[in-house]
Amino acid sequence: MGILWRTILPLFAYFITQTIAQAQQKTPFDYVDPLIGTTNGGHVFPGATLPFGMAKAGPDVIGENQGGFASDNSPIYGFSHMHDSGTGGSPSLGNFPIFPFTSCDNNNINNCRFSKYSRATRRVPGSVKAHPGYFAITLESQIQTEMTVTNHTAFYRFTFPEKPVEANSTLRPVVIVDLDDLPNTRSDGNIQVNAQTGRITGNAVFSPSFGSGNYRSYFCADFAGANFTNLGIYSGSRARSDLSVNVKGRYNANPAGGWIQFNAPASKEIVVRVGMSFISEVQACSNAEKEIPQGDFLSIRLRAEQVWRDKLSVIEVKPGGASEDLMTSFWSGVYRSMISPQDYTGENPLWTSDEPYYDSFYCIWDSFRSIHPLLTLLDPHSQTLMVRSLIDIYRHEGKLPDCRMSLCKGFTQGGSNADVVLVDAYLKNLTTGIDWRTGYLALISDAEIEPPNWDLEGRGGLDSWKRTGYIPLDDDDDPNTGTHTRSISRTVEYAYNDFCIAQMAKGIGNMGDYTKYLQRSGNWRNLYKPNQTSSIYAQDTGFVGFLQPRYKNGTWGYQDPIFCSPLLEFTSCYLNPEGHETYEGSAWLYTFFVPGDMETLIRTLGGRDSFVKRLDFFHESGLLYIGDEQGFLKVFLYHYAGRPGLSALRTHFYIPSQFNSTVSGIPGNDDSGAMGSFQALTMMGIFPNAGQDVYFITPPFFEEVSILNQQTGRKATIRNVNFDPTGKNVFIQSARLNGKEYNKNWLTHSFFMGGGVLELVLGSSESKWGTRTEDVPPSLGPFGDRKVRRRM
Ligand SMILES: *[C@@H]1O[C@H](CO)[C@@H](O)[C@H](O)[C@H]1NC(C)=O
Ligand SMILES: *[C@@H]1O[C@H](CO)[C@@H](O)[C@H](O)[C@H]1NC(C)=O
Ligand SMILES: *[C@@H]1O[C@H](CO)[C@@H](O)[C@H](O)[C@H]1NC(C)=O
Ligand SMILES: *[C@@H]1O[C@H](CO)[C@@H](O)[C@H](O)[C@H]1NC(C)=O
Ligand SMILES: *[C@@H]1O[C@H](CO)[C@@H](O)[C@H](O)[C@H]1NC(C)=O
Ligand SMILES: *[C@@H]1O[C@H](CO)[C@@H](O)[C@H](O)[C@H]1NC(C)=O
Ligand SMILES: *[C@@H]1O[C@H](CO)[C@@H](O)[C@H](O)[C@H]1NC(C)=O
Repeated sequence: MGILWRTILPLFAYFITQTIAQAQQKTPFDYVDPLIGTTNGGHVFPGATLPFGMAKAGPDVIGENQGGFASDNSPIYGFSHMHDSGTGGSPSLGNFPIFPFTSCDNNNINNCRFSKYSRATRRVPGSVKAHPGYFAITLESQIQTEMTVTNHTAFYRFTFPEKPVEANSTLRPVVIVDLDDLPNTRSDGNIQVNAQTGRITGNAVFSPSFGSGNYRSYFCADFAGANFTNLGIYSGSRARSDLSVNVKGRYNANPAGGWIQFNAPASKEIVVRVGMSFISEVQACSNAEKEIPQGDFLSIRLRAEQVWRDKLSVIEVKPGGASEDLMTSFWSGVYRSMISPQDYTGENPLWTSDEPYYDSFYCIWDSFRSIHPLLTLLDPHSQTLMVRSLIDIYRHEGKLPDCRMSLCKGFTQGGSNADVVLVDAYLKNLTTGIDWRTGYLALISDAEIEPPNWDLEGRGGLDSWKRTGYIPLDDDDDPNTGTHTRSISRTVEYAYNDFCIAQMAKGIGNMGDYTKYLQRSGNWRNLYKPNQTSSIYAQDTGFVGFLQPRYKNGTWGYQDPIFCSPLLEFTSCYLNPEGHETYEGSAWLYTFFVPGDMETLIRTLGGRDSFVKRLDFFHESGLLYIGDEQGFLKVFLYHYAGRPGLSALRTHFYIPSQFNSTVSGIPGNDDSGAMGSFQALTMMGIFPNAGQDVYFITPPFFEEVSILNQQTGRKATIRNVNFDPTGKNVFIQSARLNGKEYNKNWLTHSFFMGGGVLELVLGSSESKWGTRTEDVPPSLGPFGDRKVRRRM
């Protein structure tokens, strides 16, 4: 029995990088802490991945394991090769975990504990090391597991102790591979072990974690470092020397997998290369062979790390005394924004296409607000490929996705928010290879054609939407199906989706569609009940006028305006059939959601002063939960009331108290990097109003920050004058853009495309800067005519 491929130890390269690292100051790479958000519901995947990579190698715990791992004391049952990050649904992926033993009791293979529940082992406290592209942990077995990746291949190095913990044994390493995934959804699987080469291959059918249908995934594992002596499969708790096994049904009913045993390795190390594919085992093997032709762990690790250094290098920060905590949480937020969506190009069995295929848009309801706008700034090439991929999904599935993972349709939470992603990219001039003609048809399809099951794509209630101008509480759109809840939240999201479509219609010169969708974007007003009051614990808040549900016949229904506030009253405010009229947030929250026409909203709510009072109350009463993405835009709405200083004040209210560098330093699920992207954009002082060419100016949390545009090669710098790292001078007194006085409190994307310097002079109290009607961002909705005069 031989070694399939050999390890080389390039100690030389190791010493060089160590020396360089010591000679220089901390780089952005050094600030990234992938462990932020790995407890208390952050669900962050902290393992090794490339930017948008398909392979994501990480440990899997029994416990809070949506992202595989948790920074608590939960036991680890394996290391698997694909994950999603930060998601709220059930755990995702985690297919075909591998697990090492130093030996089995009495050197008898059947004394090893095969099932994931019996073998799970606690970690050695303090043994975790995590950097972009690399993760290491030591279990109580004293085996250290390190991992790194290429695009489709996970690469592990097990370092074994001299003396096994197993009774009466000498070091005889065993590695097993399970036919299983994190949520135990396997329904059919098989595995083959090759007695000549030691290669283990297999495949199985699994279910997506927040969607419908299933998918088949394939792997190809090769081992090196020692000669193997024996191998086979296991089924139940028994090992056999059979060379293949086929199982039906769930893992819990019939645990099965493969195993391989080695001589004690001279170096104490065994490396495992696991290629992944959604096409075939052959492709899984060829991915691995192409990407990691030699078993050299360190050089693969250094390459992965270099990819991240390059990715992060488009941002430059001059901290000006900003704390280590802020630097760490900032760079980690940037990093987490580049984990998903994942590039599965060449790995899509569902259709043949020359277009790129990205997966794990998980979910666009979370990501449209800040992840995609941030990628447009930092990595327009990847964002362009993602938009092309969305349009190709429309081509082949008939609709844009609202959520998609593991080649399956995910669940729709509100509107058809891929519309916002497309229009945001359109307005920011992403063009290369994007078929905007088909993109536009995709938007119109969302707006006009109701799909048979609108829980999986598109919109429901379109008949009512077109006829009545809102989603009625008693809507029934036979013959199609979907969850008949969220009439308020769907109404405001559909209205904003239509607003975005109108902007693109105007851009392509289709004025008929422009007028039509602009009119529909005003539909939010049909659910505004001017005399609705609101109390908290029987105390009148004093605010009057909220969105309320409404029947088809126009009669008002009722939902307490504070209901579905996560911190106050929250029951069944998710996608369940007994859900309510607002999704994951209250009528208070949704009343603020008119991103395209804030001027009309402010007028409707009684003008600037009462709007500001209401917004203050919303932030300070517990009504707003910043751990849900809908909270993000609410931090910056003061800009529309001519009070940009209050937005700046709010940014410091939430950062670092809710977003910081601790392992629990994210207030909610990271949702594929949504929380990270909020933090990154907010700390750079350029939070976007997604779907519009608008960035709200607030002072960066650093003395200076620059972004190098990857399309034009131009650098845009935002510089604080009188910067105060303790966050007291947060009020802009005056600004200069490329040397000229600048009074608008917002920027367009042209600043980042063209480059230049925005200089902000700060002070400790609010000023007149950015307060005039002509200083605030545009409100291009259908009401009134002031917008016509002020059109940009
Ligand atoms: C990994 O995939 C990215 C595209 O997502 C590509 O740009 C890069 O070259 C690939 N890396 C390697 C080593 O193939
Ligand atoms: C170890 O070996 C001794 C002597 O052969 C035996 O009595 C004992 O049961 C073994 N321990 C285990 C855990 O198998
Ligand atoms: C593996 O086996 C081959 C031949 O059987 C032998 O030449 C080689 O030295 C062995 N390698 C190790 C690491 O023991
Ligand atoms: C609120 O207005 C509705 C009509 O818009 C009216 O029927 C209702 O009586 C009013 N409620 C109160 C408390 O004034
Ligand atoms: C409108 O419809 C609702 C629900 O069916 C009903 O309770 C209400 O009485 C109706 N109002 C009128 C004015 O018919
Ligand atoms: C860090 O953020 C978490 C999550 O939002 C919060 O619970 C915690 O209090 C914050 N810690 C500090 C020191 O601000
Ligand atoms: C996008 O292109 C249009 C038309 O060429 C131009 O007017 C606009 O300024 C560009 N926007 C950006 C952000 O570059």
